[in-house]
Amino acid sequence: MITEQQFSDAAEQLRRGNLVAFPTETVYGLAANALDSVAVAKIFELKGRPTFDPLIVHVAHRQDLLDLVREVPRPIERLIDRFWPGPLSVVLPRRTIVPDLVTSGLPSVAVRCPSHPVASRLITEAGVPLAAPSANRFGRISPTTAEHVREQFPRDLPNILDGGPCEVGVESTVVGFDGTSVILYRPGGIPLEAIQDEVGKVKVAGTDDQTPSSPGQLTQHYAPRTPLTISAHYGPIQNEQRVGLLALAQSAPPDKPSTFTAIEYLSKDGCLREAAANLFAAMRRLDEKNLDLIVATPIPEHDLGFAMMDRLRRASAR
Ligand code: TXA
Ligand code: MG
Repeated sequence: MITEQQFSDAAEQLRRGNLVAFPTETVYGLAANALDSVAVAKIFELKGRPTFDPLIVHVAHRQDLLDLVREVPRPIERLIDRFWPGPLSVVLPRRTIVPDLVTSGLPSVAVRCPSHPVASRLITEAGVPLAAPSANRFGRISPTTAEHVREQFPRDLPNILDGGPCEVGVESTVVGFDGTSVILYRPGGIPLEAIQDEVGKVKVAGTDDQTPSSPGQLTQHYAPRTPLTISAHYGPIQNEQRVGLLALAQSAPPDKPSTFTAIEYLSKDGCLREAAANLFAAMRRLDEKNLDLIVATPIPEHDLGFAMMDRLRRASAR
């Protein structure tokens, strides 16, 4: 339980230009007043994040979107009607009130209205929109508990509101519009199928020359320190090698489970929702076991499986 005092202290910190870590339904975020460049600069500094990687601005109510963006094309409006508040970020032409540092100088800004009650109360009490990336050091696994945030910043710990584990477990889906089609910049908590159900065919960024990939979407990201490989058939483990297994469900382990030093099953029965909620915490637990290698078995790429495979591919890129 977060007390009233904790909420008002955190809101006060934000208004003063300091950082606060807070829970959302996807992952924990590291927030600053989005309209204060100096405060936003502290996010980049604490995370060690390059400034070419733009941030998402969080609002408490959908009508607050119009303070930040110039227009909302019809297909994006439909997505907002259906999925806000929730794990969907929309990229739209920004107003000049949004600092360059938030958007990395781009003419567009990503905005999201989270459904987590703690997030929405914090934004409301702060009285300003909050720029917030995931509350991890740059390139590392996103935190899904307050404890994960503490581990990331052992020395210069920001104020953290502890709202328990995040329900969705993967970051928001990021979409934009190119004048003709909706573009998917990052797969996430709202499945691509659900978006297409609402607006028809969607272009996936980075898959062809016409659709630019999302700024700041680096190939290597979400990385554990331990090397990770995606494979359905991992051969016999060599002598003394410490190998961990990350698998969707117990029903489909590769080879002999007994040969693995550690095993994480993401779901009892292969439920993608449950698996997504467990993914980052399971990756962290394996990363703490001093393994030589983590073998992740492929996850079917539909619904939340698409976002999970995206994160696993980035974790496996070296
Ligand atoms: O679920 C989430 O989205 C979490 C929570 C805290 O809300 N936040 C999050 O932020 O994942 P971050 O900074 O880790 O990821 C921001 C993503 C990046 O992929 C970035 O490229 C994309 O949003 N993005 C931000 N502004 C953009 C823009 N103007 N155009 C295209 N993509 C943008
Ligand atoms: Mg992140």
